[in-house]
Amino acid sequence: MTSPWWRGAIIYQVYPRSFLDTDGDGIGDLAGIVEKMGYIASLGVDALWVSPFFKSPMKDYGYDVSDYRAVDPMFGQDSDADRLIEAAHDHGLKLIIDMVLAHSSDRHAWFEESRVSRDNSKADWYVWADPKPDGTPPNNWLSVFGGPAWQWESRRRQYYLRHFLKSQPNLNWHNPEVVRAMMGEVRFWLDRGVDGLRLDAITTMVHDQALRDNPPLPAGGQSDVAGTPDNPFTYQEHRHSRDRPEIMERFAELRSLVDRYPDRFLMGEIADVDTIAVSAKYTKGSGALHSCYNFQFTHEAFDRAHLTSVVSRTEHALEDGWITYAFGNHDVMRAVSRWRRLTPLASDDRALAKLLMACLFSLRGGACLYQGEELGLTEADIAFEDLRDPWGIEFWPRFKGRDGCRTPMPWQSDAPAGGFTEGTPWLPLAEDHRPLAVDRQEADAESPLNFCRRFLAWRKARPALLAGDIAILETTDPVFAFERSREDERLVCAFNIANAETTIEAGDWTPLPAPGIASTLRDGRLTLPPFGTFFGRVGDLSSAVSLLDKGIEKV
Ligand code: BGC
Repeated sequence: MTSPWWRGAIIYQVYPRSFLDTDGDGIGDLAGIVEKMGYIASLGVDALWVSPFFKSPMKDYGYDVSDYRAVDPMFGQDSDADRLIEAAHDHGLKLIIDMVLAHSSDRHAWFEESRVSRDNSKADWYVWADPKPDGTPPNNWLSVFGGPAWQWESRRRQYYLRHFLKSQPNLNWHNPEVVRAMMGEVRFWLDRGVDGLRLDAITTMVHDQALRDNPPLPAGGQSDVAGTPDNPFTYQEHRHSRDRPEIMERFAELRSLVDRYPDRFLMGEIADVDTIAVSAKYTKGSGALHSCYNFQFTHEAFDRAHLTSVVSRTEHALEDGWITYAFGNHDVMRAVSRWRRLTPLASDDRALAKLLMACLFSLRGGACLYQGEELGLTEADIAFEDLRDPWGIEFWPRFKGRDGCRTPMPWQSDAPAGGFTEGTPWLPLAEDHRPLAVDRQEADAESPLNFCRRFLAWRKARPALLAGDIAILETTDPVFAFERSREDERLVCAFNIANAETTIEAGDWTPLPAPGIASTLRDGRLTLPPFGTFFGRVGDLSSAVSLLDKGIEKV
């Protein structure tokens, strides 16, 4: 049986507002993605995931959908969605759209009806609850974007649940009519020809009907998973508000719908829970999601211990499930900026960008590459007056929100707005992105962009990297290393997570010419330059024994 396409797939994430604007309104559009489809394909990725482009009041920049079937006019016409799907397929790419199933916009017709009374036809389509006798919200659940997870509606004299903005009411997935309606929205896009769905904030889809209070995390145990260290949301264990057991029934229904179409893919976004355990649970067996995507690598820690621990725990938990890794996305600080701060010496961002791609593309699993990561883009510094993200505005200045990773793609270094738009971009182009623009990197054989292309082309010919098992090697800091093996191919992959040369004891390895910052193997010692990588063949079977003696942890 051949492996499904999404096993080992590299998925390029496009944030459409900031990719390419073709009509001069300062906001990227679907025609811009179509125009750049050749560029996306040239990277060597297998698929693209496009963040929401559906009709929306854009309070959360598209993650607040008011019509699941319509393209928002700022992104184009409905027919542009067909052109997008067709262009992706013409270039041999799969197309994944972003479905926001857990909540809609408060401007969705369903909610506009639901909120006016307690007895209309959509009255029970969202999560409504009476206040406590003292008028306060029904329980202690908090919104990740700040404040209680409940919003008052005076016409019903009730609160509605919203895990994010008050303009993002949660749908009531305990109501069979809602399930039917939402399955219809999914079917609409499957019929249209999309190959996969990225399921937004999926753990928030089903709530505890008893509305029990969430317990506090043990003192000192505040998680920073949500990225805002001063957010009271991080003081709670979200036991009753997220990842409810009933969600598995909803997944089974979703999966049986998706399975009626060949080769389709469901990928859940997992945050603010025990993400490894939940990713494993949601991808176990044939009646759930195909893969999950989580935030284990989108926060501070960037060292051998963290990488080792996440990959080992994930592999132990996964069983027959599947994971998709990401180092960055439209919700977190750019990886190069986030992680260079942790290196002891002034960082070489180009080298770090290459190291990150080599490492991400070599792990066992799928991988998401966020637009601009192939260029090594850094986090843009946005002035308060230019902030657009409501989360950043709420928590500024300690947390500046997500605009810094959402600035326009720099296509041409010398063009106004970097060639992103002929108008005024919705977020300013970061001036320090100009030297990193695509045109400059195209012309530079050693650029991160050309590295990405070479590496992915090289990876395609390595079955062990595409579909092999993984075993973490016990190395010394700062080197993160593992073995990938499939049938008769056994590869060792080693990454120097520091901006300083380092030497480790080598195994029975033969260097393999590979794109990257080459390392030297001599007299049983492997010397990796700053942010250097090493790929090698592992010797014959007897070396497996000697490697095990050296403490390889088989996972
Ligand atoms: C998306 C965010 C969005 C949130 C609410 C997420 O996880 O990635 O961009 O703000 O869901 O929809």
